[in-house]
Amino acid sequence: MLRWLVVGGGAREHAIALALRRAQAEVVVASPNANPGLDRAAVARARLPTDAVEKIVAFARSERVGAAFVGPEGPLAAGLGDALRAADVPTVGPDRDSARLESSKAFCRELLARHRVDGQPRFTVLRTEEEVDAAVAAFAGPFVVKPSGLTAGKGVWVQGSDFAGPRDGASYAKSLLVQGAPVLLEEKLEGEEFSQMAFVTDDGIAPMPAVQDFKRALEGDRGTNTGGMGSYSQRDHLLPFLSTSDRDRALRILEGSVAALRAEGLAYRGVLYGGFMLTADGPRLLEWNVRFGDPEGINALTLYEEGNFSDLALGVANGHLERNLVRFRRRATVVRYLVPPGYGARAEAGGTLEIDEPKVEAEGVHVLYGSVEAVGPATVRLGTGRGVALVGEASAVHEAGERVESALAHVRGHFYVRHDIGTQADLTRRWEHMRQLLRPGAPPSPLPLSVAPPEAPPSSAGPPEQLSG
Ligand code: AMP
Ligand code: GLY
Repeated sequence: MLRWLVVGGGAREHAIALALRRAQAEVVVASPNANPGLDRAAVARARLPTDAVEKIVAFARSERVGAAFVGPEGPLAAGLGDALRAADVPTVGPDRDSARLESSKAFCRELLARHRVDGQPRFTVLRTEEEVDAAVAAFAGPFVVKPSGLTAGKGVWVQGSDFAGPRDGASYAKSLLVQGAPVLLEEKLEGEEFSQMAFVTDDGIAPMPAVQDFKRALEGDRGTNTGGMGSYSQRDHLLPFLSTSDRDRALRILEGSVAALRAEGLAYRGVLYGGFMLTADGPRLLEWNVRFGDPEGINALTLYEEGNFSDLALGVANGHLERNLVRFRRRATVVRYLVPPGYGARAEAGGTLEIDEPKVEAEGVHVLYGSVEAVGPATVRLGTGRGVALVGEASAVHEAGERVESALAHVRGHFYVRHDIGTQADLTRRWEHMRQLLRPGAPPSPLPLSVAPPEAPPSSAGPPEQLSG
């Protein structure tokens, strides 16, 4: 029986561990928190910060693991992939140099520009205050300010939402420069965001279903950017506003980016996940992430066919893609995170949640534990991060959303959740947003609920599959 090391303590890692367990593999876990879900799934555990590279490698050795799956980006940026491979542990997760695709947005944009990879917004990399002033003065149109380094999705400021005018953007950019790393100024893109993940290894890429993540803290996409409050995926593995041809364009950007890495002598064995904006001119890359999305990875892993995830992942770690094992069920999924009140601004840690798991499961909803600590058999304490993910599955997105809504009746405690994730009203809003970008002034056309296939957006090659059935 293969023994896996899973690194990380969130709901994404819980989903990874469960997928490995369903494939009869054994799991040991290195996580900073006493995650009750991971603790239940694992035969051994070490409480370690995820960037404690040497200690994690020592734990992997002492547990004689056959392979490792690294959940978050931090340890990959710190070189955990390199260190595990040096210790002869095949690992899902790139080496530090390739992890710069995520850990250095400046490296990423400059690499893709050198290799003329399609789908990049206009951008400029700034290293001094003078460069900020000059770039802001010269930048045509609204822009976005991004720290180059890792920020857990929280450091990006968008003009119009996070700051008003160029002058405020410039002062934010300067405040970031003080931290030492470069800052990016990017063209502000309008559209709908989607996440496209793929397994990537030496001999190819294998895409996963497209997912939409809800970045903003509050309902109606208000509030600050967060790590993601929830997500959904559609039965045909597209999204209400995403056609096959637009998804294929995103996959070509992914292939081009992997080819750019290779051309510079950099290998990649792991999951690669693009945050894309679908604009009126097609998909544009917002960022690469070198791991499963959280929560998007939960959608994908929920849909993974009961094949053998362990063999698939081991193949990726060894440089070989077992294509016949890349199979995702044709079902819709909705994830909603239960978070501490104030999450995204000033999170109130310490509240408890009582979860009646059997009743939640009876609604067709799974519980995945994140940044929580167990305090009793059915009680967990929230930290400052995303606490518990509820994932519902059904034939249509709104039905999966309704299941999660019903399951919430079996959770008691002081928490915040975005009730709009996976509702028909929200799907319609996004569909209409994209239609208006493509055909300004077009009369509203409601997104069909569960009968005929929705009208394809004008940019698409063909109608997406019907939403329910
Ligand atoms: P990133 O960490 O680069 O994915 O950015 C976090 C979030 O900021 C994204 O999910 C978008 O909501 C927003 N964002 C990033 N880049 C842009 C852009 N060029 N135009 C508009 N919004 C952006
Ligand atoms: N859902 C956003 C992320 O995983 O970065």
